[in-house]
Amino acid sequence: MTAIQQRPIGVFDSGVGGLTVVRALMERLPNENIVYFGDTARVPYGVKSRHTIELYTEQIVTYLLEHDVKALVVACNTIAAVAREKVRQLAGDMPVLDVIAAGAQAALQSTQNNHIGVIATSTTVNSNAYARAIHSQNPNTRVFSQACPLLVPLVEEGWLDHEVTRLTAREYLKPILAENVDTLVLGCTHYPLLKPLIKQEAPELKLVDSAITTAEATAEALYRSQLANPNHNGADYRFYVSDIPLRFQTIGERFLGRSLEQLEMVSLG
Ligand code: DGL
Repeated sequence: MTAIQQRPIGVFDSGVGGLTVVRALMERLPNENIVYFGDTARVPYGVKSRHTIELYTEQIVTYLLEHDVKALVVACNTIAAVAREKVRQLAGDMPVLDVIAAGAQAALQSTQNNHIGVIATSTTVNSNAYARAIHSQNPNTRVFSQACPLLVPLVEEGWLDHEVTRLTAREYLKPILAENVDTLVLGCTHYPLLKPLIKQEAPELKLVDSAITTAEATAEALYRSQLANPNHNGADYRFYVSDIPLRFQTIGERFLGRSLEQLEMVSLG
């Protein structure tokens, strides 16, 4: 075993939501050490400009590279939508995985009528990144996107099965459902927590959970480049955030699905 295989995977997000991707990675790749960075002091990114998101992304990637990571996982759809090239430039030869590439691929595998719906933050939808990623592989697919800015705060509030969330989701899904989509991409870190509610609202839709598909793509990339850690001695997880706001622990554990330990605050920039 070479030392590089034991180095951690760097996972990052605008805040706490990327822990859904960490959770999927822990399940799919239980041997892998993970270093997570969540920019909790500056979240949300979903309403910020490309310029600002690129600047913040550069600071985060520089920080993770100092941790000697062997691969980078962009867990934030908004960062993947507007700053993916910046991440690739900084990462050099290192594998870079992201939620949009993985989600687009899974959506194409899932759809039978070539009508795909995407729900995401406003910045992700305005960037058209999902549609571009899908069309680059199949130009005959029709993509219908809907920004759902109210869903992030509702999930953070823990209203996963609340009437307000149900009505909000119903309203956002209306125009997409009218287009006869058969597949819906949950294009934001927070939405996988709403899977049960969305399934009740639209039982006929196949849902693409970008957390699971990204973990799968990461596994493939690690095995392909012989970077997977064969060590079974228990993985090490470290979580860094730029702020520890009120109720962070509770919200973080909801996303991660287990207790959040080895948490540290650092300031960037
Ligand atoms: N992590 C973001 C995303 O997946 C959602 C939260 C935010 O707006 O920063 O798009």
